[in-house]
Amino acid sequence: MRILVVGGGGREHALVWKIAQSPLAEKVFCAPGNPGTARLAENVAIAADDVDALVRWAVENRVDFVVVGPEAPLVLGLADRLSASGIAVFGASAAAARLEGSKAFAKEVMAAAGIPTAAYGAFDALGPALAHARAAGGRVVVKADGLAAGKGVVVCGDVAEAEAALRSILVDRIHGAAGARVVVEERMAGPEASVIALVDGERVLVLPPAQDHKRIFDGDRGPNTGGMGAFCPTPTVDAALLADVERSVLLPTVREMARRGTPFRGALYAGIMLTGDGPRVLEFNARFGDPETQPILMRVQGDVVPALLAAARGDLSATTLRIDPRAAVGVVMAAEGYPGRVTVGDAIEGAEGPFPPDVQVFQAGTRRGPDGRIVTSGGRVLTVCALGADRADAAARAYQAIGRVQFRGAQFRRDIGRAGPGEGA
Ligand code: AMP
Ligand code: GLY
Repeated sequence: MRILVVGGGGREHALVWKIAQSPLAEKVFCAPGNPGTARLAENVAIAADDVDALVRWAVENRVDFVVVGPEAPLVLGLADRLSASGIAVFGASAAAARLEGSKAFAKEVMAAAGIPTAAYGAFDALGPALAHARAAGGRVVVKADGLAAGKGVVVCGDVAEAEAALRSILVDRIHGAAGARVVVEERMAGPEASVIALVDGERVLVLPPAQDHKRIFDGDRGPNTGGMGAFCPTPTVDAALLADVERSVLLPTVREMARRGTPFRGALYAGIMLTGDGPRVLEFNARFGDPETQPILMRVQGDVVPALLAAARGDLSATTLRIDPRAAVGVVMAAEGYPGRVTVGDAIEGAEGPFPPDVQVFQAGTRRGPDGRIVTSGGRVLTVCALGADRADAAARAYQAIGRVQFRGAQFRRDIGRAGPGEGA
């Protein structure tokens, strides 16, 4: 098969790494890719959200199967357009990707399907939104309805904070049209986990649970980021809890989407908070997580392509995945200034190894400079991943490997996989 992976981050580098090992993959392409994917696949210089150009290129280059990484092209209808052109695609249709593209829509689906989640109201005007937040004493979470690159969520502690968040999103439109509506949620508490499943429209194949570290600093302090590291499995989600999430969250969501005539196919990501009242959904994503995918794929043994194809073709009934019993940890190295304005163009030493066995470095915000050296080009620069006998061992191996990767201003957390919330230092 000729397989195209869409995207250019660490998640896509990990997908390309895994897919390129498949006996089914005659040729792998990545659009736009990065210097890491270029070593395993042929990069195609088309942006991940340039739907017209991607469809044209895939048709002209006789691509058999497309795996879509990021949400933007899904929301723009890339999967629909590829399907209409007769190309198999792993990724949600535009209608199904609304689960991620509109938080109000996701809440409405959850309400209809009886899925445990925070109580909420959806508003397009400041007055009623503020009244709702006041009634909750300001302890609410304010979310821009649309896609805001992971920055549209504000966890508030009092009415003044809630008012500031509502004004900036609804009135000042700091996220543009994505903030024409807001969801105001009950503020919950508890550890978080990422549960991701392959979905074929009807059935789900749940991947091992992961945990992401969204804050920039150790100890989960500082501003939110796209994710500073992740590990898999997470001890906060045991087999019974995972089965509970499958039964009470994933399957009812998939059923509800099918009932509406917009079946979900692709990767369904449930961000879960483990509250005193059981697991509750924080958000849905219509794609694999980044950086969760990097440690998760480190643990998938054998060929992942048949599973992705089965989901794309609508029949996961005969699909299983073998999972490595070891633990995987992925630590993100970010550029100076991240998650604010970052400096770019710093030379990176050691990104291409050599690395010890069971260590992988997945590139993201990198590009090849004119002299052939790899330089930084974005916020999250790369994810250093390792497998280990247990989580502590995997973390130790990942941090050992990080010691060999250097660039000016590199920021990374020192506590990824070293202690989960509630586990002490
Ligand atoms: P989201 O993008 O919706 O997952 O939100 C980003 C982060 O905000 C989550 O990972 C949580 O840490 C936090 N968050 C979102 N919704 C809630 C909520 N209802 N209660 C408490 N924290 C929340
Ligand atoms: N790591 C969080 C996300 O992919 O949305």
